Amino acid sequence: MRRIVFGASLFLTTLALPAMAQDHPEIGQRQGQFNLIVHNFAVLGGMAQGRVDYDAALAQTAADNLFHVTRHDQSRLWPEGTDAQSVEGTRALPAIWENLDDFVGKFVALQTAAENVQAVAGDGLDTLRPAVGALGGTCQACHQTYRAEAG
Ligand code: HEC
Repeated sequence: MRRIVFGASLFLTTLALPAMAQDHPEIGQRQGQFNLIVHNFAVLGGMAQGRVDYDAALAQTAADNLFHVTRHDQSRLWPEGTDAQSVEGTRALPAIWENLDDFVGKFVALQTAAENVQAVAGDGLDTLRPAVGALGGTCQACHQTYRAEAG
């Protein structure tokens, strides 16, 4: 008798749990890609804003990394049902799946801006600064529409 009761309560507990991010490895994987992006963007942004001394070799390495990380194909990283309304542990707004073409277009804009930074990163701060500004604009353009505020 006791065993039956235990079994029933376990079943109810399972039903009551919200969907979790660990059920969808893609969430951690795409966040990992964005974390590698910011790891390199921070170096370039720091130089552009004068918080870090300009260093041509360091800038070029960060820009090369950014180019490659933004080339990692994202097409399998956004499965249906991995939005912030359906699952905990993600800030991806449902609007992504309602406007997939626009979302992909904003990622392509990021790729283009990263390529432009890569082309000039070693050429001095005056050339780097506007290219990094344009790159930062592509992050913001996507986040303001498709990423929930940190909560
Ligand atoms: C095409 C849209 C898009 C672009 C462009 C974009 N992001 Fe994001 N970013 C997102 C979304 C959506 C998330 C939320 C992902 C999630 O939580 O599942 C995110 C999350 C992040 C995170 C948090 C990762 C975590 O661990 O939760 C960082 C950091 C980040 N982005 C940095 C950047 C930077 C820096 C740029 C520009 C150089 C950038 N992103 C460009 C859409 C974008």
